[in-house]
Amino acid sequence: MSDKKSIRVTVNGTTHEAEVEPRTLLADFLRHELHFGGVHVGCEHGVCGVCTILMDGKAVRSCLTLAVQADGHEITTIEGIANDADLHPIQQAFIEEHGLQCGFCTPGFVIAIYELLRDNKEPTEEQIMDVIGGELCRCTGYEGIRKAVRSAIKKLQAAGA
Ligand code: FES
Ligand code: FES
Repeated sequence: MSDKKSIRVTVNGTTHEAEVEPRTLLADFLRHELHFGGVHVGCEHGVCGVCTILMDGKAVRSCLTLAVQADGHEITTIEGIANDADLHPIQQAFIEEHGLQCGFCTPGFVIAIYELLRDNKEPTEEQIMDVIGGELCRCTGYEGIRKAVRSAIKKLQAAGA
C-alpha cells in the first residue's frame, strides 16, 4: 500500500494537487514535479539560501520544508515575482548593479530581499546586511548585491510600491 499523501498547494497563484511521499522535500517537489526551475538546490542543509521561497508570504528554506507541510498553503517562487513580461524592480536592479554572475544564488537573494522591502520600505544598512548575510554567493563579493538592494529601494519608491 502506498504511503503517499495528497496535498493541495497554490504556487504563484495556481493550485496544484499531487500525491507525494511523506519525505519529499518542498524544494524537490517544486523543482522536479511542478518544474519551477528557479527553485535552486545547493547545500540541502538550510545554509546557502538558494532554495528560498515564500510560504504564505514568509521566506523559508524549501530544502528544510517537506512538501506535505505546504499542504493548504500559498507558495511564491522566483517565477511568481515578475509581473508577466516585466522583471520585478529587484531583478532589474540586480542586472543593472551587477548583483549576479553565474546567477545560481540569485533567486534566493531576490526572494529574501523581496520579503525585506515588502515589509520595510527604508531598511537600514544593518537590516540589509542581515538579510544579505543569510544567503551565500560564491561569485559577486556582495558589493553588487548591496548596491542592487539600494537601487531597488529607489525603484520601488519611484513606482510608489
Ligand atoms: S539548498 Fe536550501 S539552504 Fe541551501
Ligand atoms: S552569482 Fe554565482 S553564486 Fe551568486
